[in-house]
Amino acid sequence: MTVNMSNLISSELLRVIAPAKINLHLEVLGLRQDGFHELCMVMQSIDLFDEITFSKTKNGKIELICDNQSLTTGDDNLILKAAKLLKCSRRNKDLGAEIHLKKNIPIGAGLAGGSSDAAATLVGLNELWETKISEMELQGMAAKLGSDIPFCIAGGTQFCFGRGDVLEPFDQLNDSMAVVLVKDPSVAVSTPWAYSRYKELNGRNYFRFEEDFEKRRQLLRRADWANPIDLLNPLPLRNDLQEVVEPVTPAVQKGLKFLSSLNGAISFSMSGSGPSCFAIFANFAAAKIALEQNHEKLELLGLEAWCCSFRSKGVSLDL
Ligand code: C5P
Repeated sequence: MTVNMSNLISSELLRVIAPAKINLHLEVLGLRQDGFHELCMVMQSIDLFDEITFSKTKNGKIELICDNQSLTTGDDNLILKAAKLLKCSRRNKDLGAEIHLKKNIPIGAGLAGGSSDAAATLVGLNELWETKISEMELQGMAAKLGSDIPFCIAGGTQFCFGRGDVLEPFDQLNDSMAVVLVKDPSVAVSTPWAYSRYKELNGRNYFRFEEDFEKRRQLLRRADWANPIDLLNPLPLRNDLQEVVEPVTPAVQKGLKFLSSLNGAISFSMSGSGPSCFAIFANFAAAKIALEQNHEKLELLGLEAWCCSFRSKGVSLDL
């Protein structure tokens, strides 16, 4: 990845964009030996992003400063975990950084905000510290830190298999598409809870063999996403976790009902383990009009909303 000079605010200050993702398809196939679920997904980056700036420190300290008080900036923060993993891999105790996070992606929302911040940290510090770690090694570190982090580095539209960390390019979608995204700001969903509840309800029917996993992957690879899209032929959105989250989360019910009422919405679904929900539109203008027509309704429902384009890349040193 090359450094765009506009991101080097000074010779030692670097700005990185960390975009959110949505799940166009999230299918739970089974349980893996490592205790994680075997997944079959399509993920899509969108133009809602956190902004992170990195500057070198001379004392080897790594410090995180965030504009959002509800986020912990201690050792459990994924940004610090990513920075420390990168530093340890080089065994250089002098590598230090001050990291400023401007949080725009809602927290605990199913949009991979924390994962994308960690991905941006791996990519950003690799540039800032000039550690020259290959993309393959960065992807390995990303997978160690979290299942969605490899996708957040690569971004765009990808099939994500395994724990979510095995990526295959997906080039069938029209990248002029856009989403309206909604979230109740007072609600967050725990991802471990969503998966363990899903296992409680469906574990008996999980596939057990690799050949069965592969059959599902093949079906997803062959699904016809490229056909002209309209209300009679919507995108084949699917999210298995919605089955367990929606019934106990009024914010998701409210969000989906709102999205289903929007003019021009092609298809709608929950993202990740929720509670964010989204509707797909043919283009940004259609999504923007739908949102503008419904400002009062959103306020009454207590929902935050965003209108975002699909994005063709993940974390990046430029917009
Ligand atoms: O990998 P990550 O830390 O994002 O996962 C958060 C939690 O979600 C895991 O601890 C696990 O409970 C659940 N999970 C899972 N299978 C996956 C991904 C996540 O069970 N493939």
